[in-house]
Amino acid sequence: MSKPSYYLTTPIYYVTDQPHIGNSYTTIVADTLARYKRQCGYDVRFLTGTDEHGLKVQRAAEEKGVSPRELADSVVARYHSAWKRLDITHDDFIRTTEERHERIVQMIFQKFLDSDDLYLGEYKGWYCVSCEAFLKETEEAEPKCPDCGRQAEWNSEATYFFRLSKYSERLLKLFEERPGFVKPTSRFNEIRSRVAEGLRDLSVTRTTLDWAVPMPFDPAHRAYVWIDALINYISAIGYGSDEERFRQRWPADVHLIGKDILWFHAAIWPCMLMSLGLEPPKLVFAHGWWTHNGQKMSKSKGNFVAPDDVADTYGVDALRYFLLRELPFGQDGDYRDASMHQRYNAELAGDLGNLLFRTLSMIDRYFEGSIPDPSAEPAGPLAEAAATLYDDVDRWMSDLQFSRALDRVWEFIRRANQYVEERKPWQLAKDPAARPRLQATMYHLAEACRILALLIEPAMPNSARSMREQLKLAEDGRPLREALEWGGLRPGTKVRRGEPLFPKKED
Ligand code: MSP
Repeated sequence: MSKPSYYLTTPIYYVTDQPHIGNSYTTIVADTLARYKRQCGYDVRFLTGTDEHGLKVQRAAEEKGVSPRELADSVVARYHSAWKRLDITHDDFIRTTEERHERIVQMIFQKFLDSDDLYLGEYKGWYCVSCEAFLKETEEAEPKCPDCGRQAEWNSEATYFFRLSKYSERLLKLFEERPGFVKPTSRFNEIRSRVAEGLRDLSVTRTTLDWAVPMPFDPAHRAYVWIDALINYISAIGYGSDEERFRQRWPADVHLIGKDILWFHAAIWPCMLMSLGLEPPKLVFAHGWWTHNGQKMSKSKGNFVAPDDVADTYGVDALRYFLLRELPFGQDGDYRDASMHQRYNAELAGDLGNLLFRTLSMIDRYFEGSIPDPSAEPAGPLAEAAATLYDDVDRWMSDLQFSRALDRVWEFIRRANQYVEERKPWQLAKDPAARPRLQATMYHLAEACRILALLIEPAMPNSARSMREQLKLAEDGRPLREALEWGGLRPGTKVRRGEPLFPKKED
């Protein structure tokens, strides 16, 4: 039987920025979800990439004295190396300047025109270059962008409009029929109220912009960067070039995005898809924003959290873990250096690292590194504690509640550490009559570590690999539910204790 498809995407990032905690966050979350779904037996397609056209990029290139293409190439190289460092396992990286994408953008604009969803008019209004977004009508003399606070620019030019207004009713109907279409619900409600106020037709081409895709039917006009960018989600999976591949993947299971770009994904994008006769994505999830020690991160303050710096100090896995665990996915959060340090020492070095280290040390000491036979005793409390693990973790992961899923895993780790204290293997080891009990105890602890190696893999792939190596586990090709069944470790397996997974850091 063929595997079910799971298609997930991150936003495509502007090439004006370097990889930072914000875009790394979405990408790490996406990677964790992709790894988890692969473990569960899905045929995963994980797409990320870069958004390379538009005024913002054109101006950034001018400021640096390079061509937009040169700027894009250099920043793309940095994204590739950042994603490699962060162990991101995307299946595709799309650049909007690639021919495979530009061709489809042109084709789609032509379709809009042919179906009378595009018409020529004149646009007058304010535009924020930093957000590449039009402001709502405003009377102010010097309007500021409501999102980023920057000064907007006055625009007055001939433009093609997309008939967004035509889709207001259908969009509201979609929202009604699919109450889970956008998450979190509070953000969905905001979008719904805004749509209920009515949609205005959207200016989707510019004549005063060079660095953008030209319209096939009117080359003086070039594509508005957001329309160009949204199309990446379908151009990358074969829309207009490979119908079969496209049908296998569309609709996307989830678009993961930040809250600032929800309007484009939850309002404009579904209308574009309706115009093309395509289904909307199954879910748009808008996560919150990180601040740093209570402050908004900004270039002028120079307080961006650089993923590389955190990874240098604590390791990539610890960074991934922290971002996933620190806050419920969907809420805003604060990156506090002290909190990172505390979680590292307590939860990674203390709870997880310590469990593995002492389990393998004792198996070394008492059984010469060989997994003992537990058969003299029934499975016991750890097997019981593990029985509902899969269902609980799967429920949270399917709901994209990564922090809850990790809470549940940590509950199990703490139970295992408590079991060590209850059983006191060092005392059992002194009594030859207690040998069968010692065997069972150490088997169960090692088995708990096997289970944990599987459960932490999506969030912390390096540590999971190291745990597997130390426990001498072969790759488990079975779906996660089966692989988690208690008793997978074979007695007699020679294990090898390694260095601590997370060496404790000085305060
Ligand atoms: N190019 C558009 C997306 C087009 S998708 C069809 C864009 N690019 S971006 O580079 O600005 O995107 C940045 C992503 O990073 C957004 O999802 C945004 O929410 C996220 N973040 C940027 N700073 C952030 C934080 N401080 N915290 C969390 N995420 C933030 O928008």
